[in-house]
Amino acid sequence: MTERIVLAYSGGLDTSVAIPYLAEQFDAEVIAVAIDAGQGGEDLEAVHDRALGCGAVAAEVIDAREEFAAEYCYPAVSANALYMDRYPLVSALSRPLIVKHLAQAAEKHDATIVSHGCTGKGNDQVRFEAGLAALAPDLKIVAPARDFAWTRDKAIVFAEEKNLPIDVTASSPYSIDQNLWGRAVETGFLEDLWNAPIEDIYSYSHSPAEPADPDEVIVTFDKGRPVALDGETKTAYQLIDELNRRAGAQGIGRIDMVEDRLVGIKSREVYESPAGIALITAHMELEAVTLEREQARFKRTVDQRWGEMVYDGLWFSPLKNSLESFIDDTQRHVSGDIRLHMQHGKATVTGRHSHQSLYDFNLATYDEGDSFKQEHARGFVELWSLPAKLAYARQSN
Ligand code: ARG
Repeated sequence: MTERIVLAYSGGLDTSVAIPYLAEQFDAEVIAVAIDAGQGGEDLEAVHDRALGCGAVAAEVIDAREEFAAEYCYPAVSANALYMDRYPLVSALSRPLIVKHLAQAAEKHDATIVSHGCTGKGNDQVRFEAGLAALAPDLKIVAPARDFAWTRDKAIVFAEEKNLPIDVTASSPYSIDQNLWGRAVETGFLEDLWNAPIEDIYSYSHSPAEPADPDEVIVTFDKGRPVALDGETKTAYQLIDELNRRAGAQGIGRIDMVEDRLVGIKSREVYESPAGIALITAHMELEAVTLEREQARFKRTVDQRWGEMVYDGLWFSPLKNSLESFIDDTQRHVSGDIRLHMQHGKATVTGRHSHQSLYDFNLATYDEGDSFKQEHARGFVELWSLPAKLAYARQSN
């Protein structure tokens, strides 16, 4: 029987060229699998037809937008997931989703090989392969860009030689990855750390410097998950999509950073994640109102580890699952409304409301109705200071 290869297909130059190349190299049939994680852009019918035009024996286009939003983006909100305190894990979240569908397609088509377009220098190869190792350990993995040293120039020559139905001139000087949760842009002039990003590289957000009428949005959460905007219930995909547009119009969610990759390299990346940053800002504030102090403190450590595990390609791992059990437990009372004022590139919380709030007006107030027993504070402070007092007394003796 002819060997079958399932290829993670984007419709771009590199993975298009991979179709005839892999078929030749392995004397195999190639099945292209394109996952819609809300990346927008080209219509998927065209991607489907291009795969067949490049010689794939079959092409599957999977609409995973709701799945991505609900099962990957929303857990990231619950975990306030920001790698290095800044990056909302745009690409890192989509890889396990793609892995899951690749493994399913491989089983369906009796494939023995899986292929992806990653190079050997990035995190994404790790995320694909660590995920596949867990879900489909028997599959062999081939990454032409890495394993056969494919370069862009080689790909263009090959595409022209084979007369593949791709517009080679359409390729951008940047490496871009985008989905519902945001966009990642690297390479080109951005590789010089001193160069400021130009307006051209953004597409999900307007310039925060350009005047726009401010916007205000009320995000409703239920157990840590966003469920409505301005009182209107929405699916996860709808909610993120709408907020991307509204927060994007205010220039929210632009991030220009140097990041520590798993493979040891420091790299410059520019991100935009308007809904991601707005939702995490709102969620953090609702946690401030509803989580007990010690739980909130400990959760910060758990959140950080969760984000690192996901960044490092360990979505399908026991520790990540255990951390999630903790996070889910903390989210039981994270329900309520957050009002965000959005303008000049910033989402600012201006109001909070929750039936699960731990904020007690009568304890907090400096006005009439104070129920806090101030006379207890003196004894508390005395005992609280006791260990340090003893230690300092010993020092000065
Ligand atoms: N550095 C980011 C990550 O590892 C994004 C990777 C993909 N970026 C890109 N521009 N192609 O998650």
